[in-house]
Amino acid sequence: MVEKFREMKRRGERITALTAYDYPTARLLDESGLDIILVGDSVGMVVLGYKDTTQVTLDEMLHHTRAVRRGVKRALLVADIPIHTYDTPEQALETARALRDVGAEAVKLEGGLSHVPQIETIVGAGIPFMAHIGMLPQSVREEGGYKVKGRSREQADALLQDARAVEAAGAFSVVLEIVAPDTAKMISASIEIPTIGIGSGNECDGQILVTHDLIGLFPWFTPKFVAPEANVAEQIRKAAWGFVDRTRRG
Ligand code: KIV
Repeated sequence: MVEKFREMKRRGERITALTAYDYPTARLLDESGLDIILVGDSVGMVVLGYKDTTQVTLDEMLHHTRAVRRGVKRALLVADIPIHTYDTPEQALETARALRDVGAEAVKLEGGLSHVPQIETIVGAGIPFMAHIGMLPQSVREEGGYKVKGRSREQADALLQDARAVEAAGAFSVVLEIVAPDTAKMISASIEIPTIGIGSGNECDGQILVTHDLIGLFPWFTPKFVAPEANVAEQIRKAAWGFVDRTRRG
């Protein structure tokens, strides 16, 4: 099921991925021919109104994964393992199984070399795994913001080690979040599994975005690297104003 992504990389075909958290969005994205739909823990920020992803619970991820499952027929459905539910390999496996039981076909957690035992345990149990290195949103508080990774030689070397470690541990792909484009390019050329970039330049093997950023549905904050394709927030405002106006005028 996930072997095809390595083959896509070999053939030089770019992999497309977006997030979804509900049935209609998942169904619309699936019908548009995307390769991967991620139930990201970004749900905490763009749907649940939390400040960051550090408050997202497993129950919330299960709830949204169930909804997305109902809308996805052909894309690979990946679900995020939320913070504090993968502190040990055993806990990571329990969480991965819970997400798989509600319909996720693969799972993702944040971390490279430091999380090899968790990754090996998940993969060893037959659950496909997508890695996530670079800027790790679940660590945003410790990091003091969403900062570019891999600018210095030391950081680039550390990221390459992370990428090699997750590949060796059995990940079928790796998300590179806000990694300096040259470093993302170097990592993509150094491993055989595809890199899926977010804010990491054009030279990754695929791209992923938070759908709300792409369609302009979270107008209070748009990351610098996103070029929105639509302004859905404005459409919602206009529709609501139209309704309020027509109703009040009778
Ligand atoms: O939570 C998320 O949406 C993500 C990405 C966009 C990579 O992890």
